[in-house]
Amino acid sequence: MIEKPMLIGGEWKDSPQKIEVVYPYTGEVVGRVAQGTEEDVNRAIEAAKEGFNEVSSLTAYQRYEILMKAAELLKKRAEEFAKTLVLEVGKTIREARTEVARAIQTLIFSAEEAKRINGETFPIDAHPNGAGKVGFYIRVPVGIVSAITPFNFPLNLSMHKVAPALACGNAVILKPSERTPLTPLMLGEVLLEAGLPPKALSIIPGYGDVGKAMTTHPDVRVVSFTGSKKVGEIITRQVGIKKVVLELGSNSAIVVHKDGNIDKAVEKAVLGGYAIAGQVCISVQRVFVHEDIFEEFVEKLKERVKSLKVGDPMDESTDVGPLISEGDVLRIREWIDEALQKGARVEVGGTTPSGKTALFEPTVVSLVPPETKLFREEAFAPVVVVDPYRELEEAINMVNDSEYGLQLGVFTNDIKVAWEFIRKAEVGGVLINEGPTFRVDHQPYGGFKNSGIGREGPKFAVEDYTEIKTVILDLTS
Ligand code: SIN
Repeated sequence: MIEKPMLIGGEWKDSPQKIEVVYPYTGEVVGRVAQGTEEDVNRAIEAAKEGFNEVSSLTAYQRYEILMKAAELLKKRAEEFAKTLVLEVGKTIREARTEVARAIQTLIFSAEEAKRINGETFPIDAHPNGAGKVGFYIRVPVGIVSAITPFNFPLNLSMHKVAPALACGNAVILKPSERTPLTPLMLGEVLLEAGLPPKALSIIPGYGDVGKAMTTHPDVRVVSFTGSKKVGEIITRQVGIKKVVLELGSNSAIVVHKDGNIDKAVEKAVLGGYAIAGQVCISVQRVFVHEDIFEEFVEKLKERVKSLKVGDPMDESTDVGPLISEGDVLRIREWIDEALQKGARVEVGGTTPSGKTALFEPTVVSLVPPETKLFREEAFAPVVVVDPYRELEEAINMVNDSEYGLQLGVFTNDIKVAWEFIRKAEVGGVLINEGPTFRVDHQPYGGFKNSGIGREGPKFAVEDYTEIKTVILDLTS
């Protein structure tokens, strides 16, 4: 059993209320953490005011060094972090190791950004009233950042908020998902050991009351949230006048054009459709295949999906672990049933292997009508929809027939076809001959439409976690 207190302004604090962490594969309680309250948030914000003074007084080089040291410490504890990720998320051990490796990269990229936060001069005398003056701007940290992160990448998505915010010289209050608070709290241990001014960081496991307190508090300047559209909308309504960064859901698509590499597209659909049991914002959910190659594609996809090993996430050879909860299995079964009633066909999968209620077989459903939940909403489950198209314009419309728009993968060797998608797809990222689930941690990452506001990736997060301060010098007297 892993027991952890919460972190308030650098001090570890227990509480009478606990949150239990459940291993999704067995349903066992594997961890217990202190549950935060609104008072804890208020204390964290008071500490953060001092923490901000301390961390923003460090030189850029000192902030770089702290984050680089944290990367080193995380590397030393990599296997411990990976095993804990398996327990709290249910992702496979291989997926967990990838998350830790990515989190180290996110830290290093953030450390490097600390050295690059710069301003610019502007030709003030280009305006008739600017004669005799000098104008430039600098970027300064915003102060206190509140970050809320989801269960699917508890370490790396927390890192994507905490590390760039600290690199800029801010204080941070983090609320990880109540389902997966263990590795975010371990991240707190690493950052403190690396020499972060302690008051600059609080990590408060909790529920909606904690989230509300930390996002609506007037002393918080930026709210950065990754999670569902529903919660994103609540935050947007509640926060008042502050910057909000939202990384929300998606039902990302792949388009396989008639000249595309079918084998590669199949491989990327499998990688992106079933990684972390489909619980990734950029999971492959909808695949649109040109009608000339539709049957071949579906046959190859079915064969590959049948070869995936579903089961114990700690087993090195497992490909697909459980969903986060049994409730999500029930939900996705209902969505599949709805699609079947409207004419869709299950090509492979569609059930729960006996005995383990949070597991769901990797599933392919074809001929799914656009009015179904399986097509329209975010599935967050190991289910891939495959539909044919005839004309290019039709495929573009199918991609855009969504309230979301995070990333898109297009398989074609025709540059003109690729360019049509680059121009017309309503998404934050277009990947040619790669799946939409591909992400490196320094790319600009974020969505159009209801997939969110703003971009993550340390360089782009720095823009959100700093304010521009304009300086004008009058040299005429
Ligand atoms: C997400 O699920 O929001 C992030 C996906 C990733 O970082 O790979």
